[in-house]
Amino acid sequence: MKEKQQTLLSRGHIFACTNKTERECFDRMLFSTNKVYSEKALGVKKGDILFLYNLDNDTLYGVFQAKSDGGKDIIPEAWNGKYPYQVEAEKIGEITSAKKIRKALSKFGISWKNGLDEERTKLLLEYLKNPSEFDLSVAPSLKIEENKPPLEATTLWNYPRQSYGKLSKGNNKYPGVTPAFIIYNLIRRYTEPGDLVVDPMAGSGTTLDVCKEEGRDCIAYDIAPTREDIIQNNARKIPLSDNNVDMIFIDSPYGDNIKYNDHPDNIGKISAETENFYDELEKVMKECHRILKPGKVLGWLIGDQWVKKKFTPVGFNIYQRLSKYFETVDVISVVRRNQTSNTGIWHNRAIRFNFYLRGFKYLFVMRKPSFDSEQSSKRVVNWTQYPRRKGNKSKKGTTNEI
Ligand SMILES: C[S@@+](CC[C@H](N)C(=O)[O-])C[C@H]1O[C@@H](n2cnc3c(N)ncnc32)[C@H](O)[C@@H]1O
Repeated sequence: MKEKQQTLLSRGHIFACTNKTERECFDRMLFSTNKVYSEKALGVKKGDILFLYNLDNDTLYGVFQAKSDGGKDIIPEAWNGKYPYQVEAEKIGEITSAKKIRKALSKFGISWKNGLDEERTKLLLEYLKNPSEFDLSVAPSLKIEENKPPLEATTLWNYPRQSYGKLSKGNNKYPGVTPAFIIYNLIRRYTEPGDLVVDPMAGSGTTLDVCKEEGRDCIAYDIAPTREDIIQNNARKIPLSDNNVDMIFIDSPYGDNIKYNDHPDNIGKISAETENFYDELEKVMKECHRILKPGKVLGWLIGDQWVKKKFTPVGFNIYQRLSKYFETVDVISVVRRNQTSNTGIWHNRAIRFNFYLRGFKYLFVMRKPSFDSEQSSKRVVNWTQYPRRKGNKSKKGTTNEI
């Protein structure tokens, strides 16, 4: 067993189970997870070291090896389809277990939610050999490395910085650069590894960098490319075939408030106070609609404008145009930070002169209607009238308060 372990790749992964699901893991020799941790399962390569962790009784089992790469629905009927991100496992030698493992995991800086690097994998292997003899006090104390942002559960997103992780994403000096967290959250929710993502207005290339790290293909365009992997193109006409793209992200100009470049086709030279601005962006929307696969998602980030005592609801106007082509999945509010006006002086002025600084941007999450939903919107629905429950005191014709 020792020799076999030494020749293995050094990456490790812990898969979680519960008292309810543990038996099936062993019976099928299949470890699995749900959508929240899908990336973890999909990142497993054949030959990686695996551990199984029962969260209910705090017991770790090992050592296993991945018999396959991680994938979706390797055995679709397992756990009644509840945990579709799976990897086939095989044991290496006899299975050993360690109870009350939480303390050791915390000491080694291990969270079962993250993959294990070489150092942590080795520590855990060593620990599992003889948990009762292992002297935790002399083991190195490591910190949990959170190099991926959390997935958002609400419609209010607030980021302290532009980027995350060890590699930078985009260029935080680029005017109007997008927080990488936004793109990360969108592609994690709406795409799978290997899917094609397009950014028609890529700026400093944040979308490219996030996609690369998450294993998504990405084509990025800009009217004035800032780097070699961004293709020069006017977003009003995207050189891709119809129904071909899995997700689009756009952080478009919000008007002429930022000087991006002098290209004559730069939409950021048109004022958001004119209809022309929206007409030109509508051309981009049409193109996005054409190249997206039916049922797939477009994320459009936009902010309102307040200039020279005049408010322009850029967000509402953009949403109105988007709604001509797309169904709404949701509207997210992204907190605006790090703006030049986010200073004490400006806050003071806003109060003294009775105006507001922009505090948020809209992220419109829109879906190209699928063929089915186009059909269903034409369907006539016959509503059934149900009698009111007994004990409901509201009078006929009045609305129940909930
Ligand atoms: C808000 S910035 C994008 C920021 C980018 N997401 C990033 O993280 O760096 C808007 C971009 O739209 C580009 N743009 C403006 N008009 C365009 C057009 N007609 N076609 C393509 N890109 C355009 C600008 O050059 C600018 O880089």
